[in-house]
Amino acid sequence: MLNLAPKHHELDPIERASRDELEALQLHRLQWSLGHAYDHSPVYRAKFDEAGVNPEDVLTLSDLARFPFTRKADLREHYPFGMFAVPREKLARIHASSGTTGKPTVVGYTKKDIDVWSEVMARSIRASGGRPGDVVHVAYGYGLFTGGLGAHYGAERLGCTVVPASGGMTERQITLIRDFGANVIMVTPSYMLSILDEFRAQGIDPRDTKLKVGIFGAEPWTDAMRREIEDAFDMHAVDIYGLSEIIGPGVANECVETKDGLHIWEDHFYPEVIDPATGEVLPEGERGELVLTSLTKEAFPVIRYRTGDLTRLLPGTARTMRRMEKVTGRADDMLIVRGVNVFPTQIEEQLLKCDGLAPHYQIELTREGRMDTMTVICEATSDAAGEEAHAAASAKELAHHIKSVIGVSARIVVGDPGSVERSQGKARRVVDKRQAG
Ligand code: DLL
Repeated sequence: MLNLAPKHHELDPIERASRDELEALQLHRLQWSLGHAYDHSPVYRAKFDEAGVNPEDVLTLSDLARFPFTRKADLREHYPFGMFAVPREKLARIHASSGTTGKPTVVGYTKKDIDVWSEVMARSIRASGGRPGDVVHVAYGYGLFTGGLGAHYGAERLGCTVVPASGGMTERQITLIRDFGANVIMVTPSYMLSILDEFRAQGIDPRDTKLKVGIFGAEPWTDAMRREIEDAFDMHAVDIYGLSEIIGPGVANECVETKDGLHIWEDHFYPEVIDPATGEVLPEGERGELVLTSLTKEAFPVIRYRTGDLTRLLPGTARTMRRMEKVTGRADDMLIVRGVNVFPTQIEEQLLKCDGLAPHYQIELTREGRMDTMTVICEATSDAAGEEAHAAASAKELAHHIKSVIGVSARIVVGDPGSVERSQGKARRVVDKRQAG
């Protein structure tokens, strides 16, 4: 694969700064951000007053730990605009995430916020191996979801030619990728697999495109999946992380030259990792829940937001900014099956070890009597389709891996190619039928 590492002079100056320079900037910006939240958002003012903290008392970065957390419930409670720190007229844009129940979570941006977002997204695309002049195919959904427009503005900012394909109409995606000569694709990893299927269905070699890098995020995915996609397309597969509450995609991104976790763009987003049970800040290297604080956002400053995402902080490698380990899941995605904790990504890892099984899967939970049953629904690859003995052997192999590595018994159903629900955005990995049944 191509060496796509950016040259030193191509980086933003802050990407080349020392830790000391970076931390001095962070402290200055943190003081501003806390003060801005306190002065302009009555919700934050009340929260800070109640906790007995004042932005003026913040003298070091570690003083942030005294401030109260912000949770998704705070956003819901103040729906839609109650947490904003600027008058509605100053908002240039609104995004929202659908959520599974009730009202969506609403976030707002000033013109300057959109500008910062474009900057961190341009930086992310460059870190992934994109360059000015590249054709960037955006297959993240456009709309209230932050994926499409976030990627779009970043690619434009970097000086790329953007193809705003959005999600869906998979046949047409193939035509656009080939005819417009896409060099970079930005899409969820699960939808990339649907695109891969479509290449094969049309009898087109997926390696026969101009794609050199895919920038995949918005859902957890494993290194095993990275290898699967890199092999199939002969391109780099790089991880991008973000969430609408903080800004959207572009909070952190892997560097293509190392692919060893995601560098957090720490000049705009300050990370902490906490023990989710006690709220205590954990030392670097320990696994816990990621908490993020915005350092420059105007419309919606976010102070100590509990992301729910599980990861750990690591020192910088390709950049001085710290890394977060690939997110394996959220605390609320964790399945407890007969007392064993299971993340869908652990199942993905085992599935991709098995010959004859495609990378599509869904996990179904049912209750039979008082016992939880986990069924992994997957499918045969097209060359293994129709061979029952082969399917039975693959199922047995997968059940064995899951039992020996994760420690839980699973029922495996191997269907025909195309039988597992396909994603056009974030995949639905778990179907929990335990309440209904
Ligand atoms: O998913 C923003 C985004 C768009 C990120 C495109 C990357 C690419 P939300 O819809 O608010 O925003 O969902 C945020 O998705 O808290 C994580 O649980 C999950 N997530 C996002 N990126 C990753 C990733 C967008 N790279 C929630 N790995 C987050 C694992 C991810 N999980």
